[in-house]
Amino acid sequence: MAHKKVTILTIQNKKNRREPLVMVTAYDYAAAHLADAAEVDMVLVGDSLGMVMLGHDTTLPVTMDIMVHHCQAVARGLQYAFLIADMPFGSYEADPKEAVHNAVRLMRDGGGEAVKLEGGREMLPAIQAILAAGIPVMAHLGLTPQSVSKFGGFRVQGKTAPAAYRMLEDALLLQEAGCFALVLEAIPAEVAAAITQRLTIPTIGIGAGAGCAGQVLVYHDLLGLTFRPYAKFVRQYADLRTTITDALTTYRDEVRSGQFPAPEHTYPMDEAELAQFRTLLEQQP
Ligand code: KIV
Repeated sequence: MAHKKVTILTIQNKKNRREPLVMVTAYDYAAAHLADAAEVDMVLVGDSLGMVMLGHDTTLPVTMDIMVHHCQAVARGLQYAFLIADMPFGSYEADPKEAVHNAVRLMRDGGGEAVKLEGGREMLPAIQAILAAGIPVMAHLGLTPQSVSKFGGFRVQGKTAPAAYRMLEDALLLQEAGCFALVLEAIPAEVAAAITQRLTIPTIGIGAGAGCAGQVLVYHDLLGLTFRPYAKFVRQYADLRTTITDALTTYRDEVRSGQFPAPEHTYPMDEAELAQFRTLLEQQP
């Protein structure tokens, strides 16, 4: 089938047809091109970039300016996948008006086609205001990394019956509010499957089992480019750390041994110009 631009309607149609949805994070132009070439459905400019691109221990230091900067780079590289921009910590919680202002920035300046934000019922005022501004919202429940301090670390959520049931209630409220999709992160597979079965919008799982309507992984995790221990839910599809280190080491060795650059890497000069240049050099005082 020809590669076509994915829209919010494509996403819901695929969910209705029970076709698994594929989402991956990307943070720059090159990654966006590669994600598009792989024909994924959705690309998320996640605030995980604070950890995998910028080396922070959490996502909390990521600002709106950083998000807009990376969204712009991804938007320039994407033609087909649906682009979702993450709302960073502190950009939407306090005031629905501020939430709309920042969501508009991610769409207008960043080139996003939707925004994602973390939280359940407590975020409904912000979500409703953003939706009222005509901006699609992807919700995010479970291990919401911006609440890492409240959780006491990156810990699996929804492990007790009341917590799991509250998450289902939140999911239903988020759907009722008009969210077009819901990320479920690091929760028991049974809980994710039960939530997925009770929703008409797609759930996108990360560490939430195969019962979700789709899956998302962080680009650097799936490519083997991360410099921290991998979460249990990651499958590494490549070992780019080794590939890149090998390439850099070979480059280093070839520069040091004089093998690089070779004649084919240099620019020729017209013989007459070269002869004249040499004459000038000889005449140099
Ligand atoms: O920031 C991010 O990359 C995310 C995904 C893991 C869902 O929120």
